[in-house]
Amino acid sequence: MIKIRVKQASIEAVKTGALALFLFDGDKAPRAIDRKLGGYISALIKKKKYTAKKYAVRAVDTLGKLPADTVLLVGLGKKADFSEEVLRRAAAKAAIAVRAAGAESFALSINGLTSKKHLARDLAQAAAEGILLSLYRFTEYKKKPDDNNGEIRSALFVCGGDVAMVRAGADAAEKICHAVYLARDLGNHPGNTATPAFIAQRAQRECRAAGVRCRVFDQRQIERLKMGSFLAVAKGSEEPPRFIVMEYFKGPKKEKPVVLVGKGLTFDTGGISIKPAGGMEDMKFDMSGGGAVIGAMVAAARLKLKKNIVGLVPCTENMPGGRAVKPGDIARSMSGITVEILNTDAEGRLILADALAYAKKYKPKAVVDLATLTGACMVALGTCASGLFGTDQKLMDSLREAGERTGERCWQMPLWEDYDDQIKSAVADVKNIGDRYGGAITAAAFLKKFTDYPWAHLDIAGTAYSAKGLTPYQTAGSAGFGVRQLVEFLRKN
Ligand code: BES
Ligand code: MN
Ligand code: ZN
Repeated sequence: MIKIRVKQASIEAVKTGALALFLFDGDKAPRAIDRKLGGYISALIKKKKYTAKKYAVRAVDTLGKLPADTVLLVGLGKKADFSEEVLRRAAAKAAIAVRAAGAESFALSINGLTSKKHLARDLAQAAAEGILLSLYRFTEYKKKPDDNNGEIRSALFVCGGDVAMVRAGADAAEKICHAVYLARDLGNHPGNTATPAFIAQRAQRECRAAGVRCRVFDQRQIERLKMGSFLAVAKGSEEPPRFIVMEYFKGPKKEKPVVLVGKGLTFDTGGISIKPAGGMEDMKFDMSGGGAVIGAMVAAARLKLKKNIVGLVPCTENMPGGRAVKPGDIARSMSGITVEILNTDAEGRLILADALAYAKKYKPKAVVDLATLTGACMVALGTCASGLFGTDQKLMDSLREAGERTGERCWQMPLWEDYDDQIKSAVADVKNIGDRYGGAITAAAFLKKFTDYPWAHLDIAGTAYSAKGLTPYQTAGSAGFGVRQLVEFLRKN
């Protein structure tokens, strides 16, 4: 991860590879810079050769007239539409342009963007996030990256009197993005590397460094806990399962914790109800919910949040095989509820059921789970929002608001009792699939049976990963989606 620096200076005096200047549509050129460049920027704007449309980037060579080699004009669009997310994306575009141009360092300024609604701290955090997240690369299995772009070493915030606020925002961004990098790495590693044992080991290492207590239960301990639903999924795999328990208690002694639960399915073949070959490789991302929870725990600790937080991640593969669970099998879950498993590809809910039951031990104030749970959720919402479900409207509202602020949006879906009819089993207490329609909701209705506390569920099947990156700061592959949303939610609640 590159270094973010902050210093008080006037922008026209900064020596750097590229100086990024953010402009609203209709803004005049920044005076001091424009004058030094002989009015070149104002001429561009006047002749409409540059309009500051959202994310429009234009490089202007300074030909030695400024200490900066290049000035980068970065459009923010209409002032009325401005938000932290707009700046996050614009800063990402700028960073990508700087890297493509081969500069090793660049400078930027958020002067003039701050207002009562947009504090320097929040803007600096957003811009730093955009920079750090857009420059992420996963190259562990390559001799060298595909693009011939060099590496940016550092980015410098040039500011006026608000250095301390900008520094605070940039610091938070560095801690949070470290956790997003971790979540992305865990997702991007292929299934043969990122096994349950590997995920657990990484979680332990990162938790230790951050100050989170992390225990890992192996197969025997999971059996002792009677997690029959989780174990049913793990049965078909040669890779032994793990149950990761992370605890961070830095809040008031008597305050009940918030429990985060993440689906840690390290590879989902579908099991005996096997998936078609096309695109199955994407099922290495089926542990993204777990990755987000591990990331959020690490970030919360590094930010020294004064909160009580628990993270639970059931980790296993879903494989076909001689010992694999079969359609029609009935599992007895930790809660005592029996489950008729009619489709072994609806495995996420099976491993979450036992994790949600385990969460009861903590008498939680709230439980939030994240899971790449259903293709149906992608059909319903596409790839720019996670599905939001739950039993507590206030909890769901705060998650939605946190997602709005971090640009990790979610959209609430109904969870009326009527959906429960679809998961009634003739032979067991519940079955693990519904009928044809409303698959994301019946999955949530299934999970609900294992909760007795304020609960919310985020179906991140559509948002967890993408082939291209859905925003300028989301790189191809794992998005680390949900880490920032969870941290923002924890911070504000
Ligand atoms: N991991 C998948 C859901 C998924 C699909 C995530 C595509 C990301 C992209 C999940 O375990 C699954 O297979 N769900 C089934 C449920 C069905 C059998 C009721 C699905 O969505 O088809
Ligand atoms: Mn599945
Ligand atoms: Zn799955």
